[in-house]
Amino acid sequence: MRMHSLVIFASGAGSNAAAIIDWCRTSGMARVSLIVCNKPGAGVIDIAAREGIPVLMIEKGSLQQPETIDAIRAHQPSLVILAGYLWKIPATLTDAFPGRIVNIHPSLLPAYGGKGMYGGNVHTAVIAAREHESGITIHYVNEHYDEGDIIVQARCPVTSNDTPATLAARIHRLEHFFFPRTIEFLLMGL
Ligand code: GRF
Repeated sequence: MRMHSLVIFASGAGSNAAAIIDWCRTSGMARVSLIVCNKPGAGVIDIAAREGIPVLMIEKGSLQQPETIDAIRAHQPSLVILAGYLWKIPATLTDAFPGRIVNIHPSLLPAYGGKGMYGGNVHTAVIAAREHESGITIHYVNEHYDEGDIIVQARCPVTSNDTPATLAARIHRLEHFFFPRTIEFLLMGL
């Protein structure tokens, strides 16, 4: 069986990155060869250090530079995974890895997607609208953020006493279950 390489873009706590790293260990199908991060001090950097995974720190505009794309390409990723990466992905990256970039979003897109809709903002808006359900969307990334083809959606209830924090915790559980399994499914087709 071929060992796939994954490059993860993450700039937050990194709990999804950790779930993917754990899945790599148990499945033996893939390894995370690089983590790309734009936020100094982000939790995901500590996770990478603990796991011995190199981190490429980037700044605004870095992804426009051929050296940055080459540094990512050097890892020959089967998939580039966005797990809590907030900046817009430029055409330089989507052109370099066509059909190979996958994002996770904490709502049932197209609902609660687009500009400003990330993290707690999404859950606050879902609760304010008195939705009875929310969920996650795993989708391909094209040059229009949050608009690429949907691969998988999973749903969960929103209860009348949910806060953004309780809903976020439920959504994270969905993410940690479905993101590694969706990656596994995609890799089986590559
Ligand atoms: C997740 O909720 C994901 O849907 C969103 O950013 C969050 C990242 O959380 N894109 P973590 O850093 O993986 O814990």
